[in-house]
Amino acid sequence: MLLKRKNILITGTNRGIGKAILIECAKNGANILAHARSKNDEFLEFIKQLALQYDVTITPIFFDMTDVKLMKEKIREIFKKKIKVDVLINNAGIAHGGFFQMTSVSKIREVFSVNFFSHLELTQLTLKLMTKNKYGSIINIASIAGIDLKEGNCAYGVSKAAIIAWTKVLSRELAKFNIRVNAIAPGLTETNMAGFMEPKAGKEMVQNSLMKRLGTPEEIANVAVFLASEKASFVNGQIIRVDGGSI
Ligand SMILES: NC(=O)c1ccc[n+]([C@@H]2O[C@H](COP(=O)([O-])OP(=O)(O)OC[C@H]3O[C@@H](n4cnc5c(N)ncnc54)[C@H](OP(=O)(O)O)[C@@H]3O)[C@@H](O)[C@H]2O)c1
Repeated sequence: MLLKRKNILITGTNRGIGKAILIECAKNGANILAHARSKNDEFLEFIKQLALQYDVTITPIFFDMTDVKLMKEKIREIFKKKIKVDVLINNAGIAHGGFFQMTSVSKIREVFSVNFFSHLELTQLTLKLMTKNKYGSIINIASIAGIDLKEGNCAYGVSKAAIIAWTKVLSRELAKFNIRVNAIAPGLTETNMAGFMEPKAGKEMVQNSLMKRLGTPEEIANVAVFLASEKASFVNGQIIRVDGGSI
């Protein structure tokens, strides 16, 4: 029970890595604000059962990450209910591959608007609460694509490199408020997103991993739980690769 009594806001919890983080946080006793893009019965039933199973509170929160007006409304509702946010996990993201000369700037803008600017907006809103409480942990889900920058990654990889740079700056600015900021850089992980990857590039990533396999969403979630917990109380400004070791 590493997260007992912690309140955690996680984005993109309806599938993939975000869903695995949601489950692991619930298992560890956290109360969760579970974000998804849009309301649906299957998701509502899932979080209801999960909350019952682990005796925690899971509150759904719905908005498109690029709809800043709606995001602000939803976060203000949380403020009004006096729910505090101890941990923010910026997970929602989209992938896009392609050479620079074949990628429109509007596509790069679209990728940045979800993978970078939406996280900036949500973090700025959440910080209004966190700084008051003088306590918090922010976890950004980046990617090894943002560290090992390669051809064909002018949109996704660069957006993740921006998240990594921002993580480092933010950790320096927020330490005085007792808020830690770290990023997780997963390698190729078994989710829908990995399924969309060009097969040759996917195979190459697996070959470049010392463990010669994809990661599971749970393996990423376990590191998120650690960073959210007091076990990581002196871990700050770090970009943690979770990729089976890369060559
Ligand atoms: N899978 C990998 O190999 C891998 C590797 C490194 C890093 N990552 C990172 O891990 C994070 C999670 O990815 P994943 O693999 O779990 O991908 P995924 O299965 O495709 O899930 C992406 C999540 O982000 C949400 N999302 C995307 N755009 C959104 C928007 N505009 N508004 C609201 N929600 C939005 C999706 O919601 P909907 O269901 O509504 O679309 C979904 O919940 C991402 O930041 C990704 O870049 C993944």
